Amino acid sequence: MKEKLWGGRFKSFTDKNVDEFNASIGFDKRLWREDIEGSLGYCRALGKAGIISEDKVEVISDALKEIYREIEKGDFSFDEGMEDIHTHIEKALIDKVGDIGETIHTGRSRNDQVALDTRLFLRASIIEIDRVAREFQLSLVEVAEKHLDWIIPGYTHLQRAQPVLLSHHLLAYYEMLKRDRQRYEEVLQRTNILPLGSAALAGTTFGLDREFLSRELKMDGITSNSMDAVSDRDFVAEFIFTSALLMMHLSRLCEELILWSTEEFNFIEISDSFATGSSIMPQKKNPDIPELIRGKTGRIYGNLISVLTMMKGIPLTYNKDMQEDKEPIFDTVDTVKNSLGIFTLLLKEIQFKRNNLYGAVEKGYLVATDLADYLVRKGMTFRKAHYVVGDIILAAQKKGVEFNDMNLNEMKSFSALIEDDIYEAIKPFSCINNRNIPGGTGIEMVKAALNKAREDLKL
Ligand code: ARG
Repeated sequence: MKEKLWGGRFKSFTDKNVDEFNASIGFDKRLWREDIEGSLGYCRALGKAGIISEDKVEVISDALKEIYREIEKGDFSFDEGMEDIHTHIEKALIDKVGDIGETIHTGRSRNDQVALDTRLFLRASIIEIDRVAREFQLSLVEVAEKHLDWIIPGYTHLQRAQPVLLSHHLLAYYEMLKRDRQRYEEVLQRTNILPLGSAALAGTTFGLDREFLSRELKMDGITSNSMDAVSDRDFVAEFIFTSALLMMHLSRLCEELILWSTEEFNFIEISDSFATGSSIMPQKKNPDIPELIRGKTGRIYGNLISVLTMMKGIPLTYNKDMQEDKEPIFDTVDTVKNSLGIFTLLLKEIQFKRNNLYGAVEKGYLVATDLADYLVRKGMTFRKAHYVVGDIILAAQKKGVEFNDMNLNEMKSFSALIEDDIYEAIKPFSCINNRNIPGGTGIEMVKAALNKAREDLKL
């Protein structure tokens, strides 16, 4: 059955249901660029090894480039009977140049070929994701700079805890994204390694200069074990894991924006162009975009579990199960890129409500720790100070007032150490600027963090 690449030992045609079920072309056609790029490099390496003469290398290269242009223009037809992208490109090559084209697969298997294509695809995707992640960070930095000295409540357990700068809060996400980008960089190092030369599983019998081919394809080295090279997809799993973490970070910020835009918090307003309405309730303005990003995080977790589960029981080496990695990979790349892209735009469409943010800091004894620290500076131990401030809070709550509303005599009744400098010490701004410690919310520290971020983002 010669119409299949592997048809030599078959006596009958493949059942069309099998063709349909087996085919990956419906989704792996997306690897066409990488497949051609890989074959271009591979034929040069075959030329260098003396397996294909240099003039035939030229003929094959020209034909591959022509196929590239045809696909780019949409002048190429994909057909389920031809299984996958590798088969399509090889067939198209043979259609163009006949016997010469039949030499391209010498010493190569689709097993090492698909590993290469996947690695090249992820390389390009990681570079692209890194670019959009950087844009997102830049947007965070810009919003932080614009609101440098705005004060908001910092929370633990979703209870108001201590005053912090809005810029400090936003830069927390900058840091998360910075680590996400570092993780992608590390994944890229392990991904950008050449598997070709491994052939089906045991290595090719043709003397291929793998280091040369690795350089041709701008890769950072060659795989060290042919069986590992064709059968592991750990680089796929770690790419999706890194993406899952990044999405988790985005999702947390989304959750905050959703909360902050409620009537209950009333900290922000998302511009009309980035919100949607309800078909029945005329008063509604819904934060659909952050909700969707939060929701899509689940898809990426699902993709990670799909790939890990798909891999866990397959014996060495290649097994067709591994074809199931493609859709999770493509979905992850698209979801992460789109989420970062829309989030970058959304950030610029958020209006923070300064008075409401500050109002929330003024109520609920957020400066209680600072009152205790004040007593410590006057000579009390911290544990005693904690109790004293606890007593003050109980009294204030009973009267329904804040610390500021209590006069000095009332204050002094809890500790003689309290003097009239107390009111300055518990102003939210003082509390913030008392935290001029590296990593803290003091304004000088946040300015330094912003400068550092700007510097890092220049790269
Ligand atoms: N479509 C296959 C995949 O994605 C390509 C490799 C097929 N190899 C094989 N021996 N059938 O994994």
